[in-house]
Amino acid sequence: MQTSESIKPDRVKQQVFRERALAPLDDWQVHAWGVTVTLGHRRVALQALGQDILRLVLCDEHGDVPLSTVGVLPDAIQPEGEVRVAAEETGRTVTLRLGTWKVKIDRDTGTLDATDGAGRVIAAGMQLFSPAAGGVGAVFEAAPATRFYGLGEEPGGLDKRHEAYTMWNSDVYAPHVPEMETLYVSIPFVIRFDEGGASGLFLDNPGKTKFDFRTRFPAYEVSAATGGFDCYLIAGPTLKDVISAYTRLTGRMPMPPRWALGYHQSRYSYETQEEVLALARTFQDKDIPLDAIYLDIHYMDGYRVFTFDRNRFPCPQQMCDELRDMGVRVVTIVDPGVKQDPEYRVYRDGIANDVFCKSVEGDLFIGDVWPGASAFPDFTDDRVGRWWADQHDFYLQQGIRGIWNDMNEPAVFNETKTMDVGVLHRNNGHPRTHRELHNLYGMLMSKATYEGLAEKLGGERPFILTRAGYSGVQRYAAVWTGDNRSFWEHMAMAIPMVLNMGLSGIAFGGPDVGGFAHHATGELLARWTQMGAFFPFFRNHSAMETLRQEPWSFGEEIEHIVRKYIRLRYRFMPYLYTLFREASETGLPIMRPLALEYPDDPVTHNLDDQFLVGRDILVAPVCRPDVRCRAVYLPFGTWNNYWTGEQLEGGRHVLVDAPLATLPLFVRAGAILPVDLGETNRPGQLAFEVYEGTAGEVGEGRLYEDDGLTFEYRDGHYRDRKLTAEFHHDHVRVKAAVIHDGWGHANAEYLIRVHRRVGSVTEAVARGLSFEVRVNEPD
Ligand code: GLC
Repeated sequence: MQTSESIKPDRVKQQVFRERALAPLDDWQVHAWGVTVTLGHRRVALQALGQDILRLVLCDEHGDVPLSTVGVLPDAIQPEGEVRVAAEETGRTVTLRLGTWKVKIDRDTGTLDATDGAGRVIAAGMQLFSPAAGGVGAVFEAAPATRFYGLGEEPGGLDKRHEAYTMWNSDVYAPHVPEMETLYVSIPFVIRFDEGGASGLFLDNPGKTKFDFRTRFPAYEVSAATGGFDCYLIAGPTLKDVISAYTRLTGRMPMPPRWALGYHQSRYSYETQEEVLALARTFQDKDIPLDAIYLDIHYMDGYRVFTFDRNRFPCPQQMCDELRDMGVRVVTIVDPGVKQDPEYRVYRDGIANDVFCKSVEGDLFIGDVWPGASAFPDFTDDRVGRWWADQHDFYLQQGIRGIWNDMNEPAVFNETKTMDVGVLHRNNGHPRTHRELHNLYGMLMSKATYEGLAEKLGGERPFILTRAGYSGVQRYAAVWTGDNRSFWEHMAMAIPMVLNMGLSGIAFGGPDVGGFAHHATGELLARWTQMGAFFPFFRNHSAMETLRQEPWSFGEEIEHIVRKYIRLRYRFMPYLYTLFREASETGLPIMRPLALEYPDDPVTHNLDDQFLVGRDILVAPVCRPDVRCRAVYLPFGTWNNYWTGEQLEGGRHVLVDAPLATLPLFVRAGAILPVDLGETNRPGQLAFEVYEGTAGEVGEGRLYEDDGLTFEYRDGHYRDRKLTAEFHHDHVRVKAAVIHDGWGHANAEYLIRVHRRVGSVTEAVARGLSFEVRVNEPD
């Protein structure tokens, strides 16, 4: 707790603003690959990477372009063919042309305007400067109405205008409140959105960086305390274009195993083998589908990673086999801290192989975490990554298929809450201090784990969950939002957090459903499960000494509701899985703010108490106790109330009944949703729900299928179908066309359910992979 003493005047540093602008522009040089300019004795390189990305990077002290981080895919920064480069001077302005990009620099002030080929201003009045405290920054002009999205999982709302965030991966057990400027994940990428459309800025710097949309409002500032200024300006013009270009740079999520999309149950901790098996049996007995159980730190022998406490878990392999028969996978937590213990194989092996982080003098960095004094692998070295990956044979041999990387900011129980910033990372032969690379640590841990598992699993897709990350983490892991609490406010805040993650390239994210710390109530669990069923990552997790939070913990009424929504998740699984495929192809999020699909509608621009799943499903969760109806904004078009079948015209707010068992849920008219009628964790009978649109219109949908388990989809072993529905006055014609058929397991018969404008449902049966059925209106 803090008292008012914390804001005593002599405690608040009086800032003397003595920054220095990088100016004037002294000279410039045109190269085959781009242009370099000298701004206030610093060299800046500009390079066009296609029509939509302009890299602007401050050169190092030798005048060279610094190396990119692992956040950026090496292929993405190779220029696409010949780029026309030219420079000319008119008056006091130098105009650079790099392909379709045009950059104007004022010779005296060094301010820079970058426009894309369509003449849209992507960076306005950009002024590079060296802050008095060191480092480097840039100020940009913006219109007061500009929205700012992205920046990963930061707390607060969807639009980050008037906010400021520091990118420094931090273990924040509490409080998760809007004024907390940093959390576990750092994604130094922001999307600017105004009347002219969307554009992006990605600052590839894994040290401490700051994005400030408050202090100089409406101008904004992006700065780095250490390292360089390596920024990518991304053109747009749509939000989707920006996300697509950003994920071209930083990568996209590979398909996770299908079981990772299911319902997951966790607790800190399920402490014994019997408890875990009994838990799975209870799910089975109660007919609640379940795909994974998590083992938190108590499974280990004294919190030593890569061990089991054999008293609590005498035979993990047998446990995993039994669970597997029930269709349940085990995910074990693995933290980076390796207990300093000369009798512990992993520590000894790590010392023998020289894998741990050290100071420049060669002293081991030892920090306190769960096991006590621990050493930390230096994941910046690929050799160490492989060593770490090899340790996972231990889990794989027991049948474990998922790994949960926690405490990987890295969290350390000391004053600074993390590793000594003076640690010198090996960084594959380019040593850097921890201060410079801090935000990469968690992602590199997941990278090592993912790549190791991908190699060892013989073609099976790994599943990694991580707490910390940096741009590009989506290539290796799903991200959960860390230690939230069983507060209604945290349930509500999970929406903008996960929406912004999705806009920042991390499609696979979600919060601890029900809340981690503090005590859930039945009502909170019911409402949160309703909402969580539509988040990409769906895991119920809770802390020691809090009320139990399994679906049946609050009596029959709540159990019934929780079961209903977990099953609903499985009903929509084919639709969801198709969206995962889309995310892996395009980088677009699965869970979307309405602004992504309706950018021309200003009502959507900061709407973050409801969201879309793909284009077609609109979810409006109830995030307050005792509330039994809510206002829902339906964007333009026609929407079907999922529960009542009522069709409503959009472009307005509607008041919707929401008794405790009902999540306000809408489907876009014209949508064709592939669903699984079985509603369990084993794929069952497929059906298509068609939501009738206006006569003359054609509805569209997609169904992507593969084995759900292996990487064979990359070799073409998948099936992709395009679905259309032509809406006529007296009938609907539903067609499935095979776009790609490389997968043998055909579902021969499908139920087609047409949800008619009048509210009733008409059914028909379709046969074959590609089909065409006419569904008549009943007389
Ligand atoms: C951290 C994690 C939490 C986990 C706990 C014990 O607080 O965020 O999910 O249960 O550590 O491992």
